[in-house]
Amino acid sequence: MSRMGHSSLVGLFLVSYVCNSRAMPATVKQEVMNDRPVIGILTQIVSDDVMKPFGKTYIPASYVKYTESGGSRVMPIRLTHTTAEYEEIFKKINGLIFIGGAVDLETSDFARVAKIFYQLALKANNAGDFFPIWGTCMGMQLLTVLVAGENLLEKTTAENIALPLNLTTEAYSSQMFKGFSDEFMKILTQEPLTGNFHHYGLTVKIFQENKKLQNFFTILSTNIAENGAHFVSTLEAKSYPFYGVQWHPEVNRFQWDSKLNYPHSLHAVQLSSQMAEFFVNQGRRSSHHFDNPMEEASSLIYNYTPVYAANFTAYEQIYFF
Ligand SMILES: *[C@@H]1O[C@H](CO)[C@@H](O)[C@H](O)[C@H]1NC(C)=O
Ligand SMILES: *[C@@H]1O[C@H](CO)[C@@H](O)[C@H](O)[C@H]1NC(C)=O
Repeated sequence: MSRMGHSSLVGLFLVSYVCNSRAMPATVKQEVMNDRPVIGILTQIVSDDVMKPFGKTYIPASYVKYTESGGSRVMPIRLTHTTAEYEEIFKKINGLIFIGGAVDLETSDFARVAKIFYQLALKANNAGDFFPIWGTCMGMQLLTVLVAGENLLEKTTAENIALPLNLTTEAYSSQMFKGFSDEFMKILTQEPLTGNFHHYGLTVKIFQENKKLQNFFTILSTNIAENGAHFVSTLEAKSYPFYGVQWHPEVNRFQWDSKLNYPHSLHAVQLSSQMAEFFVNQGRRSSHHFDNPMEEASSLIYNYTPVYAANFTAYEQIYFF
């Protein structure tokens, strides 16, 4: 299904070898891939009363499984560290995910810590130190607030509805969808493979009127909300490995509440797999690492046990912190 991958690297190698065959190539420049990536997931603030007895912050296990399914390990990142500690954590992880939730995107601790990492990631990428960031649902909304410097969200209710994506022309030359076959791109526009659970979002109109957003991001897909608003459903940055989806790719494989419209068809599962693999593969381009194996082991999600939560939330399992 993938149009890129190892075969194209081999192809490039052969082409450059043939082109240079008269003068032997000195060195073939190939990017070194980090095949043991660790993706950080910022813990989310508990706002739901039923979850409060378990902890102050949480990560639904679906996001962890999703990230692991792409070939990565996960480091949960709490909201209680100092800026200096976040700077240290940044040097150890190979990418970062902002998950969904319901917190203030400017004043909450979640937003405060996200901003620290966002600024570190801008600086690192500017200096050639590749570092990807992914935002899902509110995590994507947060990325737009960080870029715009203000909260531009409006009511774009699409609550508990699965939708096909209205792909833009730019989607076909995007990073995010580069590995998708032509056939699967068509399927994306026809079948309701993306689960939506939001009340607010970024309208296409607001995006088009905002210079900062326009200069920074490319819209890859849009959708129509229940109130008729035309909202941005997928975007990626033009010059940074930053990606956002208003929908929830993790639910397609890892959430099962039968009252909710989680897409579970074969194509829905394939979409979820490809998104996870895409992002983790971005993380492989980062060479950040822990100081030693013991520090790494003690930082990973494996040190925590998720709580069974299907009888009081829409999640089957949740990690609490
Ligand atoms: C799809 O997006 C285009 C612009 O990108 C817009 O003109 C059109 O109305 C949208 N269609 C739907 C069904 O959302
Ligand atoms: C959910 O189930 C667990 C274990 O099966 C049980 O201990 C817990 O009390 C239940 N919680 C609620 C709110 O029903």
